[in-house]
Amino acid sequence: MSQDELKKAAAENALRFVKEKDVVGIGTGSTVNFFIDALAQSRIPIDGVVVSSKASMQRLMQYGFEILDPNSVVHFPIYVDGADEVNSRLQMIKGGGGALTGEKIVASLAKKFVCISDASKKVDVLGKFPVAVEVIPLARSFVAREIVKLGGDPVYRQGYVTDYGNVILDVYFSSILEPIKLEETLNNITGVVTNGLFARHPADVLLLGTEEGVKETSL
Ligand code: A5P
Repeated sequence: MSQDELKKAAAENALRFVKEKDVVGIGTGSTVNFFIDALAQSRIPIDGVVVSSKASMQRLMQYGFEILDPNSVVHFPIYVDGADEVNSRLQMIKGGGGALTGEKIVASLAKKFVCISDASKKVDVLGKFPVAVEVIPLARSFVAREIVKLGGDPVYRQGYVTDYGNVILDVYFSSILEPIKLEETLNNITGVVTNGLFARHPADVLLLGTEEGVKETSL
């Protein structure tokens, strides 16, 4: 099976977690796009969606979903999103698509985070994929220098502006043995908006598309 077929299988499997009248949190990326398509085709009568990015919002609007303001909801049952890497503790690196801040906010509002991905994203140790760090533009060089002191190698994502007008540094670490500590340390640098480590609050469920079918892991 192709990588896209594995993503699609994981995405379609996530429909099991969506119930009538739910508000559903929607992540960003190619795997989530399969989920949006499947949700539309399922015709499950949900009460609306809370979205993590302008890109996902556009796709959802084309299908006619009701888009809810995250400020108007206290919490909702489920958030579905992909990952760039995920380990056995369901901690993730996300943000390859640049939507990490919206993703972290919307995920925080959900009772259950369902991660959907193809088997290539499963790793023993996080860190081959760079950690995206969203930074206030004024602080870009300062933050980069602070990250170098932490042992990271920051690369400015040229020409990319986030939904919130900020820039991204993609930071390479040799391996991330203490993801919670690193997530907190990066967040404490002045000028950092958020970072793509989802370790303090990992996913609750992983649906992994493999050649042998979709494998579910729950915490
Ligand atoms: C978007 O900012 C990312 O966090 C994506 O969720 C992540 O990169 C996974 O993307 P794909 O589903 O396209 O692999």
